[in-house]
Amino acid sequence: MIRIGVFDSGIGGKAVADKLQQLFPHVEVLFVNDSHNVPYGSDRRAEIVQKTEKAIQPLLQANCDAIVIACNTATTNAIADLRAHHPHIHFVGIEPMIKPAARLSQSGAIAVFATPSTLKSHRYHQLKNQWAPRLTVIEPDCSQWASLIEKGEGKRIDLHATINEIKRWQTDVIVLGCTHYHHIKDRIERTAGPGVKILEPSDAIGARLDSLLSITSQLPE
Ligand code: DGL
Repeated sequence: MIRIGVFDSGIGGKAVADKLQQLFPHVEVLFVNDSHNVPYGSDRRAEIVQKTEKAIQPLLQANCDAIVIACNTATTNAIADLRAHHPHIHFVGIEPMIKPAARLSQSGAIAVFATPSTLKSHRYHQLKNQWAPRLTVIEPDCSQWASLIEKGEGKRIDLHATINEIKRWQTDVIVLGCTHYHHIKDRIERTAGPGVKILEPSDAIGARLDSLLSITSQLPE
């Protein structure tokens, strides 16, 4: 049986793990998080590498066929180090979907909702320079969101203020650049209204895993 490991600092990756289990019911999906250290979102790069490395140990020991780093903060800051430390492991990362957002936007303005450490990372700047050099990219302050969502207090997030701020720029695409925010996707969608598309990567990760592990073609007859 194919075994896929999923890691996040906290409950964000659980939404991704559940979606993968739904897409691939015949695959074993193992989820681990780092509930002692969550959130990672304001940590320095070296700390994120060290914490992620430690937290994924159970997945490494479980001989997973692939490990999904279901955390934009850990992917943008640590995945290159993880790949260098464990060259035999297939790591699949989750990072802000700048490329599809740039393709979708008609207005030329997109918003990225992500943690401070993701927005600061070299990888994020690379993505922006490569795919959105001529776009307006709005990055509202979401620094408290992951910890509120982690505590089950996502309702305290003032989405109206954030959405009003990004709409001043005619933003027509929002990128969910933190898996914790998947838990409030419906509210973001309702608050933003029908003219704004919300992008999150679960389906793309499913497709990537399928092409990597040929999951669908291994379905029992
Ligand atoms: N869920 C994580 C992400 O996708 C980050 C949450 C955190 O640890 O701050 O970025």
